[in-house]
Amino acid sequence: MLDSHFFSYTDGTLCCESVMLNELAAQFGTPLFVTSRQSLLAQYLAFEAAFTALPHFTCYSVKANYNLAVIRALADEGCGCDVNSGGELYRALTAGVAPEKIIMAGIGKSEAEIEYALTSGVLLLKAESVSELKAIDRVASRLGVVASVAIRINPNVTAETHPYITTGDSKEKFGIDEAELGEVFSLFRELPNLSLQGLDMHIGSQIFDPEYYVAATQKLLDVLESARHLGFDIKWFDVGGGFPVTYDPQKPATDITRFAEKLIPMIEGKGVTAIFEPGRFLAANASLILTRILYRKRNHTGKEFFIVDAGMTELIRPALYHSHHEVLAVTRHDRSIVADVVGPVCESSDFFARQRSIDDAAEGELLAVLSSGAYGAVMSSNYNGRLRPAEVMVDGRKVTLIRRRESYAQLVQNEV
Ligand SMILES: Cc1ncc(COP(=O)(O)O)c(C=O)c1O
Repeated sequence: MLDSHFFSYTDGTLCCESVMLNELAAQFGTPLFVTSRQSLLAQYLAFEAAFTALPHFTCYSVKANYNLAVIRALADEGCGCDVNSGGELYRALTAGVAPEKIIMAGIGKSEAEIEYALTSGVLLLKAESVSELKAIDRVASRLGVVASVAIRINPNVTAETHPYITTGDSKEKFGIDEAELGEVFSLFRELPNLSLQGLDMHIGSQIFDPEYYVAATQKLLDVLESARHLGFDIKWFDVGGGFPVTYDPQKPATDITRFAEKLIPMIEGKGVTAIFEPGRFLAANASLILTRILYRKRNHTGKEFFIVDAGMTELIRPALYHSHHEVLAVTRHDRSIVADVVGPVCESSDFFARQRSIDDAAEGELLAVLSSGAYGAVMSSNYNGRLRPAEVMVDGRKVTLIRRRESYAQLVQNEV
């Protein structure tokens, strides 16, 4: 039922590492994000082990979970950061990540964000359009610096995943189109404050078939050859993120070596350092949401509902992508029922599970929504006047509060 080293039942009670979840609920309240530090690190180490034969630099895509403690846990192991905005850059720097270990993405960077990145001294700015390159040059010249830039190519590869998370297709907004590359290369010749250091792509998220990476990498290699032919000294070859995880614990976990086996032979010996930007792969299965059953009800058709104190405001993925999240009772029961697990928000899309077999837990008991570590807390909102939950990190027996629960006063603090 649950195949995880980091979340498992001990004596009928669900635990995170060596800590019982009901104890966490008693101490910190619910809803509560619970992150296993060891799970995060195990995923990172598995990723590093798979790509060890290739000169590479792994930059955790902090958009998946930008809690400072999560960033720090990975940075302490040597991982860099991929940030997507001034706010994420601020988070990475505040977590103590060295600027030369940070790369910055973003299709719509403002000049203020570009200035922030350049004055911070980030390793690379990844540019996505001719206009953005001109903006980077303008800001760099004002600051009297030369900007280290990677260009994000749109490889026109349609990876099979949810349409909202495919990004490498030419009908999407991301990256520079092949047809524009001539103009882009000319710009780097004309504009003195730009230095072309890298090539970049990101074809989407939750991509299970390595062949999509192979197709896109081949296109990026073709661009590498053209760039070198024109005399550009390309150092960085950024394959992006998108490496998948399994949300159903009954299915085997992703074997990242399947991706490494395809990519390493393509990139090794090309005189570049590969960059990878995993987000979900590192963070998704490291956290769960602990939530209390407020009410149970049964309608006239016999349909059962668990109404819990977490909702789409904490995890919007089921509403946005119809994604599957395993829901488990913290205390095991012998009997199960088929029910919907829904939140308190005034939207019918506020659900975690529909018609799912769940232990027959009573009102007041705890449920856990698994695999909530990526694109969970970071997408949380105050909709319906809800308070963002507290977050804790577990490491063995040690529990650290890594985000305080919001207060009503914080809800209105910026309003005048
Ligand atoms: C540029 C870029 N890199 C990396 C990622 C991380 O993707 P994933 O969490 O699927 O690894 C994203 C996600 O949208 C992204 O936009």
